[in-house]
Amino acid sequence: MTTDVSKLAPVQVARPYFPAEDIDWITKEVRAVFESGLLMQGKWVEAFENAFAEACGVRFARTVNSGLSALIGCLSFFDVREREVLVPTNTFLASANGVHWAGGRPVFVDIDPRTLLIDLDDLQRRITSKTAGLMLVHGNGLIPPNLDEIIATCRDRGLFVLEDAAHAAGSSQNGRRAGSLGDAAAFSMLATKIISAGGEGGMVTTNDEALAQRIVSLRFHGEDHTRGIQDRIGWSWRMTEIQAIAGLSQVRRLDEIVDLRMRVAARYDEAFGRLEQVRPLPLPAGDRNAYYKYPLWLAPPLERNQVKQRLDQEFRVKSGTAYWPPCHLQPAYREAFGHREGDYPNAEASLAQTIALPIHCNLTDEEIERVITAITVVCGN
Ligand SMILES: Cc1ncc(COP(=O)(O)O)c(C=O)c1O
Repeated sequence: MTTDVSKLAPVQVARPYFPAEDIDWITKEVRAVFESGLLMQGKWVEAFENAFAEACGVRFARTVNSGLSALIGCLSFFDVREREVLVPTNTFLASANGVHWAGGRPVFVDIDPRTLLIDLDDLQRRITSKTAGLMLVHGNGLIPPNLDEIIATCRDRGLFVLEDAAHAAGSSQNGRRAGSLGDAAAFSMLATKIISAGGEGGMVTTNDEALAQRIVSLRFHGEDHTRGIQDRIGWSWRMTEIQAIAGLSQVRRLDEIVDLRMRVAARYDEAFGRLEQVRPLPLPAGDRNAYYKYPLWLAPPLERNQVKQRLDQEFRVKSGTAYWPPCHLQPAYREAFGHREGDYPNAEASLAQTIALPIHCNLTDEEIERVITAITVVCGN
């Protein structure tokens, strides 16, 4: 019996995880918030911040309205004005945009084709007297296996390390958790991220009290609450109590969410490890990866767009990229900095051949099997 593909529901790339009991709890507490009239800066924001700090193993977590705001807040604390910040060219544009809006210049760095993360040799080559720090992006949820060397390089040169942990809530390396690995970290709680604060949101984590204080000031127009004055020009970046209730329900489930995502990844790894034509990301022993995405490298002559099209048309399996194009080839940065094709050869060659497969907590066994069959048929022969 053959399956009529047009009758199958598509396998979606991403989906937030809100079990029914959490939806009930959120609804009840949101109702109470509306009844109380205390919609902002109340007990739920504080509870979410405390739970998130504990989950990352840091002293402070501070909510903001987005991952981009979290990045800008940290970068303005590090004062990157007129200075350079190293950013892997394989990241979502927000990483570089954060440097721009904090007054600095993003300097892109090539990647290691195996991990799709920043390449240490290229990083070292691009450090100049103007370099202020590094934006360490845990792309797809993977913490760089050479983390210690990267951090040591930055420490030796007096550079700050800001983790862009938008993909990596719940990831860890030998027990050391994303969000606690550098001087500060920025998380996104957008709907598709590992945990979501009801659709939008961001978080800064740090052990530096002055930095945490700065975020509190910047998110409220630059006001210093303790003195009741405005001592800098700030922004309007608050998270509402309603978002914080949703975020708190999610952070309580962070370990379970990562377990569920790793379970899907393990099934894919096992199946795709048998195919010569594709290569998944490595999962170093002792790592937990939140797998924001599940990237799969396709050996030539497989062609990315053709594979994506066949997965969708023949199996109703949706897929994305992780990422394409790399930042330096995005029209905005290409124009502003005069980048050209060939400037970052490893990123261009590896990302052109990489797709991102569906990964989220709600994937059914049938859907996981359908993805595996689809890749085996489309790429395997
Ligand atoms: C790596 C990375 N950094 C930063 C962000 C920005 O987060 P937000 O959309 O919440 O501003 C995102 C996602 O959008 C991201 O993927």
